[in-house]
Amino acid sequence: MFQSVNYMVRTKIIYSRDMAPSHRYQDKVVIVTGGARGIGKGCVETFVKEGAKVAICDILDDVAKATVEEMNKMGPGEAFYINCNLRDEAQIKNTIEKVVEKYGTIDCLINNAGYHPGHYPIDTVTSESFASLMQLNVAAVFLTCKYALPYIRPAKGNIINIASMVAQLGQIDSIPYTATKGAVVSMSKSMAISEAKHGVRVNTISPGNILTPLWWEVTNKTETPEKFYQDALTQQVLGHMGSPSDIVKNGAKVAFCDILDDEAKPTEEKMNKMGPGEAYYINCNLRDEAQIKNMIDKVVEKYGTIDCLINNAGYHPGYAVIDDVTVESFNKLLQVNLIAVFLTCKYALPYIRLAKGNIINIASVTTYLGQKDSIPYTASKGAVASMSKTLAISEAKHGVRVNTVSPGAIWTPLWAELKRNAENPEKFYNEGVSYQVMGRMGTPTDISTACLYLAADGTYCTGMDMNVSGGVDISVGSKNEVALS
Ligand SMILES: NC(=O)c1ccc[n+]([C@@H]2O[C@H](COP(=O)([O-])OP(=O)(O)OC[C@H]3O[C@@H](n4cnc5c(N)ncnc54)[C@H](O)[C@@H]3O)[C@@H](O)[C@H]2O)c1
Repeated sequence: MFQSVNYMVRTKIIYSRDMAPSHRYQDKVVIVTGGARGIGKGCVETFVKEGAKVAICDILDDVAKATVEEMNKMGPGEAFYINCNLRDEAQIKNTIEKVVEKYGTIDCLINNAGYHPGHYPIDTVTSESFASLMQLNVAAVFLTCKYALPYIRPAKGNIINIASMVAQLGQIDSIPYTATKGAVVSMSKSMAISEAKHGVRVNTISPGNILTPLWWEVTNKTETPEKFYQDALTQQVLGHMGSPSDIVKNGAKVAFCDILDDEAKPTEEKMNKMGPGEAYYINCNLRDEAQIKNMIDKVVEKYGTIDCLINNAGYHPGYAVIDDVTVESFNKLLQVNLIAVFLTCKYALPYIRLAKGNIINIASVTTYLGQKDSIPYTASKGAVASMSKTLAISEAKHGVRVNTVSPGAIWTPLWAELKRNAENPEKFYNEGVSYQVMGRMGTPTDISTACLYLAADGTYCTGMDMNVSGGVDISVGSKNEVALS
């Protein structure tokens, strides 16, 4: 039998405006390989703006020194340069030691340095050139991690490896490059599993086309660079290339709708006391199209615009084998988990388009993984993820971005209800925890910070599905590396 769990029926609308960086990484120590220019320089700039101390390792002395000067003028963090050829293990080891000697710790390692040799058919690729690219794009990533981890572990820091979209998509006449980036993605997942017991997170960022010196070098090596550039433009749903330091904005005013007046009103009061933004509660039953339309009208009446819509409302009806699932219960779930998402988008989009805003739909990792005896739930979330991609494509011409966040197990009233209704609540809870590589349930803040990133910072992200999952979607076999250690 399905049990109805009517928690979290909530939609948030965030208003964004330019704000000064909030020094979120004050005094943290960061290493950026290849930080002299391109994406690496973008990373250095973003982290220095957030108050971090950033070590750039590169081989382009003049470019790197100019970057350091620019960063130190800007502040509030600082940058310093270490000449390090990442093809040389001794130099990597020495660089890590120098950073620790200067700052005593390492909080974050960004393995950005990499090279794309250009596009060549397999017949012209030699094993030497393949090995040479592997040395920089893969072995150097492994080595910086190896030598930095003894310091990252006590800091419970994290590693970010820059891979590439082409690891998934493939790329014409780029066999060694795509192979190296695929290796980085897989290696990062294995590292995430192994290091979770130390409280270290390991993630990969896979850029699309980012206009950097490397991008132009590769383009200029082609027979028809102008055509290559135009072709690349047509590959972007957003119709433009990314820039290494896309601008940071922060959200402020939040209208939220719910049906739980008694819980929503204290939340509204608490948020308004806290500031600096504000919260505005609207009672709205998302099963009712007229109420959705009315809710959007009210928001626009109060604030005049909508910059971001977060479709968070949804519920899990509990577990049931297919024989016990009725069409009525399936439709009832779809009404909230899918149709309401469609309707809020439909009525909010005329305003979001004018604001060149964005939409974030909350799906679930069960979209990819499946979940035992949860057919309607996984179907509803899969539909949300697919619909979001289509919306991303259709709305790009209006400058609107649409993304999905897929949470793993996040401890909320929805989970508490599932636990209460389980035959063996303790076993149910412990199993839930054991599925996470990180050995804990997520928190609502883990999801909201991902939303803030997509709304405010991720201006080159559209049609993306961000898994915020504690590692439930990686590894085979038992996953809780924290408990196993
Ligand atoms: N630009 C894109 O469209 C794009 C797309 C997907 C992935 N990437 C990846 O992003 C990363 C950064 O690329 P980018 O476009 O900013 O490139 P870039 O060439 O503009 O910058 C790379 C930096 O790495 C440094 N570097 C290269 N070899 C080095 C070595 N042996 N030792 C130390 N430093 C070295 C360079 O000096 C340079 O400062 C690379 O890993 C690349 O594969 C780029």
